[in-house]
Amino acid sequence: MVRLAILTSRVRVEEKLLIEALRQRSVAFDIIDDGELLLDLSHPDARWRAYDAVLCRSMSQSRGLAVLHVLEHWGVRVCNAATVTATCNDKLLTTLALLRAGIPIPHTLLAFDPKVTIHGIETLGYPVVLKPITGSWGRLLARINDRDAAEAVLEHQETLGSYQHHVHYVQEHIAKPQRDIRAFVVGDRTICAIYRTSEHWVTNTARGAVASNCPVTPELDSLCVRAAQAVGGGILAIDVLEDPQRGLLINEINATMEFRNSIAPTGVDIPNEMLDYLLSGVREEAVR
Ligand SMILES: Nc1ncnc2c1ncn2[C@@H]1O[C@H](COP(=O)(O)OP(=O)(O)O)[C@@H](O)[C@H]1O
Ligand SMILES: [Mg+2]
Repeated sequence: MVRLAILTSRVRVEEKLLIEALRQRSVAFDIIDDGELLLDLSHPDARWRAYDAVLCRSMSQSRGLAVLHVLEHWGVRVCNAATVTATCNDKLLTTLALLRAGIPIPHTLLAFDPKVTIHGIETLGYPVVLKPITGSWGRLLARINDRDAAEAVLEHQETLGSYQHHVHYVQEHIAKPQRDIRAFVVGDRTICAIYRTSEHWVTNTARGAVASNCPVTPELDSLCVRAAQAVGGGILAIDVLEDPQRGLLINEINATMEFRNSIAPTGVDIPNEMLDYLLSGVREEAVR
């Protein structure tokens, strides 16, 4: 009999929906709180061998990634893979993976010295977007409209930030409509997508953007599937920006996605799609 584990920090709406779907399918599972783990790296805990797969739903990107690395090391099947998660947790690594795959993205610069960073910003032209390489929910993003703001934000980052904030990731600002697109890729399919509409230029739903259905056109599907494959594939949420001239650009990819606001507008049963993918992987393994 198949047995799954869900690694979490807190059972949120998403985890409740996954639990409900697992119960309906009568699939055995455990919920594992990442805060309670004590991993003896040289002695794999036998309990993990009981699972055919472990789905990472940790709220903390660093915790989730650390556990994925250890479980993979012990030969446990995990979703998403540690390398995929590591790439998505880091906007620089994601950008490089997308560029390698020839996927259109916003023009992005990297710099370390504040003066050099200002020079880079001015070669792109205002406004630009500064964002931390690690982070989510639109936190610490800055749209910079002029040199005064650039100098102030860079000084704050240098003085108050941790070492991660001393790596300056500078992006051209995309004059998108009052929205962006969040597409859900599961395996080799874009199962659904939403528009996230907001008065604010930062359109994360965690920041109050409103979700509505975005039709999955063949163009959106193939771009998002290519983007997902570029970072190694799995269950991924892809942020897409609509550039008025260039069309769709991939902004970033999330490895542990929130989806509570996307089920009703799209009509797609996202948790069951996730489980179909996870369980089909387990069955393929069993056949081999
Ligand atoms: N280069 C950009 N141009 C225009 N809007 C952007 C740009 N980068 C980010 N945004 C807006 O900010 C939001 C959050 O940015 P994102 O890079 O996805 O960071 P996070 O990991 O915090 O979600 C995006 O969904 C989008 O609305
Ligand atoms: Mg995002």
